[in-house]
Amino acid sequence: MSDNDQVSDKRAVIVTADENTIVEAALLLKQGGLVALPTETVYGLGADASNPEAVKRIFTAKGRPENHPLIVHVGSVEQISDWAVNIPDVAWRLAKLFWPGPLTLILNKRPEVPLAVTGGQDTIALRMPDNPVALSLLKAFGGGIAAPSANRFKHISPTSAKHVLEELGSTVDLILDGGSCLLGVESTILDLSGESYRLLRPGHISVGELEALLKTKISTVNTSGVRTPGMMAEHYSPLTPAYLCTSECFSEALNKLAQVNKTVAILAYKYQPGSKQAHFISMPERSAEYAQSLYAALRQLDQLKLDVILVEQPPETEYWQAINDRLGKATVPFET
Ligand code: TXA
Ligand code: MG
Repeated sequence: MSDNDQVSDKRAVIVTADENTIVEAALLLKQGGLVALPTETVYGLGADASNPEAVKRIFTAKGRPENHPLIVHVGSVEQISDWAVNIPDVAWRLAKLFWPGPLTLILNKRPEVPLAVTGGQDTIALRMPDNPVALSLLKAFGGGIAAPSANRFKHISPTSAKHVLEELGSTVDLILDGGSCLLGVESTILDLSGESYRLLRPGHISVGELEALLKTKISTVNTSGVRTPGMMAEHYSPLTPAYLCTSECFSEALNKLAQVNKTVAILAYKYQPGSKQAHFISMPERSAEYAQSLYAALRQLDQLKLDVILVEQPPETEYWQAINDRLGKATVPFET
C-alpha cells in the first residue's frame, strides 16, 4: 500500500501494483469485478470481456450509455483470433509491429463475443497495452479485459491512480497503482473492418506513420452513424468552461475576460503569465511531454473551480495531432 491509499469512501481501493495485488486483481476480474489498471496511454476501467454482467458494471460506474463500444485488451498478438474473424493480413502486420503499444484495431467480431462489449455492433476494438502492470494482469487473468478510460462519461481521462479514485471512488473494486501513464493520451484507433482503412481517433501513432507503412491513404472519419464517443465534441472535458485561443490572441482574450470580471486559469504554451496571474500552468515545449502532462494539468486547473480555463493553442503540426484533437474536444474556440 502506498501513502495515498487511505481515501474516504468505504475502504481503500488503491493498491501498489505488485505480484500479489496483480494476482488479487486477476481473481477479482474472474469473479466479475471491476479493476482499474494503468496502461501506457491512460488508466483503464477493466472487466472480464467475456462476462456481460461484469461489462455492464463498467457502463454503470462510468455513467456511459450502453451502446458505446469498449476496447478489449489482450495479452498477445495471437489472441486477436479469439475475438475477431475475417482478420485481414494488415491487422496481423500492424499488431506485430506496434503491439504492445498504443494502437487499437477495429475488426469484425466473432459471433460469440458478447454484444455488451461492442455496444451492439458487429465489430470489435482490440489492443495490447504496453505497460508492465497491464501485461502482467492480462497474463495472470488469461482472457481479454474490456477497459474504457477510467473516468466518468465525458470527463477528462485519468493518467494516475489518484485520478481514477477522484473519478470513480469505490464503484471500482480495486485500483492498481502503476504510477503516471507514460504517453498520456488515448490510443490511435484504426478501423480495418471495412473496405477502406479509417482513422477513428488520432493518437501517439500518427496517421502519417501508418500511411507510410501501409502505402495507402487512411480516411479520417466523420462520426455520423459511427458510435465512437471519443469522437464526440465535449468529450475529455473539464467541468469548468474551457476555451481555446491562439498565441496571437491570447493577451486580448485575457483582457476581455478581465473586463467581465471572470477568474481565469491558464494553460499556457508560449505565453508568459504576468505577476498578477496566479493560476496558470506552463506546458512543456515538446509534444511528447505536453501529451504526458495534459490531462493532469487540465484536471489541476479544473479543480481550482474558477470561471474559465483558457488554453493556448500549441503547434498544429502532425506530432501535435492527438493533442489538438483532445484540446478541440475539451474546449470551444474563444471568440475575440
Ligand atoms: O488508450 C486507450 O485506448 C484507452 C486505454 C485504457 O486502453 N482506452 C480508451 O477507451 O480510450 P475508451 O472507451 O475511453 O475509448 C475507446 C474508443 C471509444 O471512442 C469507442 O467508441 C471506440 O474506442 N470503439 C470501441 N469499439 C469500437 C467499435 N467496434 N467501432 C468503433 N469504435 C469503437
Ligand atoms: Mg474514454
